[in-house]
Amino acid sequence: MKAVRINQWGQPAQVEDIPQPTAGQDEVLVRVYASSLNPVDLFSVAGYLQAMQQLPLTPGTDFSGEVVTVGADVTHVKPGDAVFGMIPIRGGAFAEYAIIKGHEVALKPQSLNYVQASAVPLVSLAAWQTTIDFAQLQKSERVLIHGAGGSVGSVAVQLAKDKGAYIIANDLPEKRGLLEELAVDEIIDAKAQQFKDVVGDVDVVLNYAKADLLEHSYDVLKPGSRYATTFEQPPQEEAERRGIHSFGVFTQPTVEQLTRLAGLIDAGKIQVLVHRTFPMDEALAALEYLQSNSEPGKVVLTMD
Ligand SMILES: NC(=O)c1ccc[n+]([C@@H]2O[C@H](COP(=O)([O-])OP(=O)(O)OC[C@H]3O[C@@H](n4cnc5c(N)ncnc54)[C@H](OP(=O)(O)O)[C@@H]3O)[C@@H](O)[C@H]2O)c1
Repeated sequence: MKAVRINQWGQPAQVEDIPQPTAGQDEVLVRVYASSLNPVDLFSVAGYLQAMQQLPLTPGTDFSGEVVTVGADVTHVKPGDAVFGMIPIRGGAFAEYAIIKGHEVALKPQSLNYVQASAVPLVSLAAWQTTIDFAQLQKSERVLIHGAGGSVGSVAVQLAKDKGAYIIANDLPEKRGLLEELAVDEIIDAKAQQFKDVVGDVDVVLNYAKADLLEHSYDVLKPGSRYATTFEQPPQEEAERRGIHSFGVFTQPTVEQLTRLAGLIDAGKIQVLVHRTFPMDEALAALEYLQSNSEPGKVVLTMD
């Protein structure tokens, strides 16, 4: 089978022919049709995660495809099922076939094709685990979302909307059109405005844009409020001093959350945008494009 491979740290990734893997007892072999790119894949290919990964490495986190075989312990999917999911850190999705742990895979949303479904998992799970699991956003609460027009942020906006929250979106001007389409309540242009000067008090800040927005984010949060981010765990001492509950997510897949997200997608409550596709042979060009692109929507590799 064809796979993107890194054989040595510091060497560029390349597409190679390697043996097709076989699924263990708690695993599923998936014929991958599409894999969306995430910033973590850039870190992986750059070698920043090598302490947690093994060579030779097939990078790739998000996938959609068809189940080929299942191990004896896996009962929620079967050969022939159309599935989607994510492989945390150890990688493997940039390939024609991938080995997936049972808890990393669920039936894909029926209303999406494979390309669209591969754009969903990591960003939607990250949005869910910050907005719903941690922040437990409530109706009418004021939420400030940094990076609201990005891939995680735009899902968080839709989850917040579903909860009936008042949404203040902070992002660069390229995302204004998308934020208007998502019907957020207020838009802050991060290039022209300082959010701390215009936002007033909020109940929740979700930061998917830049780690250094933390300090001024704390300034707009009242005691008892919540701060969640996809960056590193915020320093707890300062948060405690201000009476803020703070959390840095390390996104993990669960069958239950993937299935709930698929339900929300099929019910028309969440959309994940695809901006552009590349064939797997052009994986390096796709990763470079991801780094430079500012247009909303995900970049997807196709393997069919
Ligand atoms: N910890 C985890 O488990 C986890 C999971 C998922 C993602 N992440 C991380 O979360 C971050 C977001 O991921 P993503 O896929 O959503 O990335 P993304 O699509 O690039 O979204 C980030 C958004 O923030 C915008 N932005 C940049 N600087 C800003 C500023 N100063 N103020 C306001 N907005 C700003 C970006 O605009 P431009 O596109 O114009 O730069 C973009 O719209 C990444 O750093 C990613 O590595 C972590």
